[in-house]
Order: sequence, then C-alpha cells, then structure tokens
Amino acid sequence: MKNLSKKIAIIEGDGIGPEIMSEAKKLIQLLIPEYELISVDLGGKAIDKYNNPFPVESQGKLKDVAAVLMSAIGAPQYDNLARELRPETGLLGLRKFLGAFANIRPAFVYPALADLSSLKSEIVSGVDLVVVRELTGGIYFGKPAMNDGTRALNTMVYEKYEIERIAKVAFEFAMKRGKRLCSVDKSNVLDVSQLWRDTVIKVSKAYPEVELSHMYVDNAAMQLVRNPKQFDVIVTSNLFGDILSDEASMLTGSIGLLPSASLGGEIGLYEPVHGSAPDIMGKGLANPIAMILSLSMMLRYSLDKEKEAQIIDKAVEEVVTEGFLTPDLGGKANTTEIGSAIYNKCEQSLLTPVY
Ligand code: NAD
Ligand code: IPM
Ligand code: MN
Repeated sequence: MKNLSKKIAIIEGDGIGPEIMSEAKKLIQLLIPEYELISVDLGGKAIDKYNNPFPVESQGKLKDVAAVLMSAIGAPQYDNLARELRPETGLLGLRKFLGAFANIRPAFVYPALADLSSLKSEIVSGVDLVVVRELTGGIYFGKPAMNDGTRALNTMVYEKYEIERIAKVAFEFAMKRGKRLCSVDKSNVLDVSQLWRDTVIKVSKAYPEVELSHMYVDNAAMQLVRNPKQFDVIVTSNLFGDILSDEASMLTGSIGLLPSASLGGEIGLYEPVHGSAPDIMGKGLANPIAMILSLSMMLRYSLDKEKEAQIIDKAVEEVVTEGFLTPDLGGKANTTEIGSAIYNKCEQSLLTPVY
C-alpha cells in the first residue's frame, strides 16, 4: 500500500550535515509545502541527548512518516566510544529498522564537469552507472562480531533470500536502463560470494533481456578507473558497495555530488553517499548537491513527485553547467550560494511550466 503520510523525517546529522540539510529544507518548502518536517535525532546529536545513537524516541517518530531525509552522521569526538554507542552504529540500526536493504547509488558525469574529474575526461565523459549496494546484511551485521583486545572478528553472512531480493532490485533497475548488470563478488575466495554468484545466476533466469556479467571485486575496483563506461548497473554486497561507490564518486568530479536512496521497506531513506566531512564543517565549503539530489530521489521514489524531482535535477545540471561550483570542484561558491542558485532555478521552473 502506498504511504499516504504528509510528514517527512529530517535527520540533520553531524559535521556538515546541518549546513547541507538547510539547503534541502528550503527546496522542500518551495516544492512540496504541504509536507510537515519532523526533526529526528540520530548519531552524535542522539548520543549527546540520550546516550544512544538511535534511541527509542527517534524510532517512535519514524512510525508514520512518508520518507526519511538524512545528511550524514559521525564526528571525531565519538570515534573512541564502544561500538554500540557510536554514531555509525545508529545509522546501521536505522537502515535495519526501515528494512532499507537496497541502496541505490547513481554516478553520473555532467558533461560540463568531465574535465574536473581526477581521471582524463575521455575516460569519464558519458559515464552513467548505478551501484546497487546490499545494505542490511553482509559483514556489517553478521554475528559473531567481537574485539577482546587481542583477537577481533566480524562475520560475512548472506542468506539466500537476501541475495535474491537485492538481485531482483538490480535486475529491475537494469531493465529500466541499459539492460546490463554486473554482479561484483569475491567468489574465487569466499563461500559467501559463491552463494551470491549462484543466486544471482538463478534470479537472472527471470530477466532474459538483461545481459549479466560477473566480476571479482579487486578487478571491479580497477575496471572502474580503467574504463568506467563499461558499467550500467553494478550489484554487490554491503562492504564492497560501500567502497566501490566512493570510488565511483570520483569519476563525477566529487563525492559531494553523489546521492542515494535506500529502498525495500515501507519508508525510504535518502542520504548522500559522503560522510559528515568534519574537516570542512562550519566553513561554507560543503557541496550541497549530493544532499539536494537525495531529496530529488525521495520525491521520485517515495512521494510520487516525478515532476518536482525533474525540476531539481534540471536546476542542478544548469547550475553546474554554468560553472557555479563549490571548492571540491575547483569553484569559489559557498554552500548557501549553490543552494540558492538551485533554489532560484527551481522557483523559475515552477513559474514557467513547460508543456
Ligand atoms: P567523508 O565522506 O565525510 O569525507 C571524505 C572527504 O570528502 C573529506 O575530505 C571531505 O571534506 C570531503 N567531502 C565529503 N563530502 C563533501 C561535500 N559534500 N562537499 C565537499 N567535500 C566533501 O568521509 P570520512 O572523512 O571518511 O568520514 C567522516 C565521518 O563521516 C566519519 O565519522 C564517518 O564514519 C562518517 N560517515 C558517515 C556517512 C553517513 O552518514 N552516511 C557516510 C560516510 C562517512
Ligand atoms: C556510507 C557510510 C556508512 C556505511 C557508515 C558511516 C556506517 O560509509 O553510507 O557509505 O559504511 O554504510
Ligand atoms: Mn561509505
């Protein structure tokens, strides 16, 4: 059943989180003013208030929202806390709580920015790929996990049903795109990856139109910088997807451009791929585009607001094409200036609808 709530949960987060979220909130007020914003504490803010990175108070607020929009959590002052008290553990708890097992991380190179990648422009121009990362299983959640000071371990576990459902999501994405899916694993070494590969092959039988390939993760990391245009949709496990999506971000010029959607449950979670960037917090240096494009994904996938999503996507493309950029992309504009430029273009689109 479609989620009919008119509330959106907002997680301001740590580090640059509140700075970039502030730009997204202005766009929400402009494009979907009928939605009420509910502030939810997660990560550092929740630790300060409740001594818990994902307290029951926050869980309760998520019961009747249409979607969750979050910036990023984590800060150096929490890095030495016990594992269960750390901001990152709160985020993992949130993903599990929402059943958000399918993390969609698109990497798209704007033509105007191809020269700004750390790779040669002819390698990156035209890149348009999506990493479908499994998000609620694998080594992030496997038991046992422990560290007694002399021995530590984590367990990489996948149940067949977890692989089946993420594979289906990835095949569905591939069907709507270039019909090519590359499954990334380490089945030459890991049993869990062999089950992954066998299961993806079984699921592929229902998608004869999709060209399925397999790649070991070490090769995939190399191929992403050698010839990224060979990829359409990549499906992979939690840890491999975390690493490969940060790598893919640099094809586009900056990690500050990459949004994500975490789907699978009744309530979708939307967050940039990047973290809380404590090294640049409070300086106006943060690129708000990953945050703003995460809002666009929320409009598209959770709120059925395709028109408004396109208004944002077009505004972002125009702003970067005009060369109006934050310092991560070699520009001089600050966070608010970029946010305002995008806002003004969205406002203009609302006033002059194209039929
Ligand atoms: P990071 O992504 O925060 O930063 C890596 C580098 O990219 C830094 O130099 C940073 O300044 C830059 N950067 C990131 N986002 C940017 C933006 N929007 N504009 C301009 N530059 C940007 O990764 P990190 O430094 O490894 O981690 C910092 C903290 O964030 C840690 O506590 C980590 O656990 C957390 N983290 C949280 C999330 C999340 O909440 N989803 C994701 C990744 C990391
Ligand atoms: C991400 C982050 C998170 C992850 C951390 C902060 C838990 O790196 O969203 O990519 O590893 O999933
Ligand atoms: Mn990451």
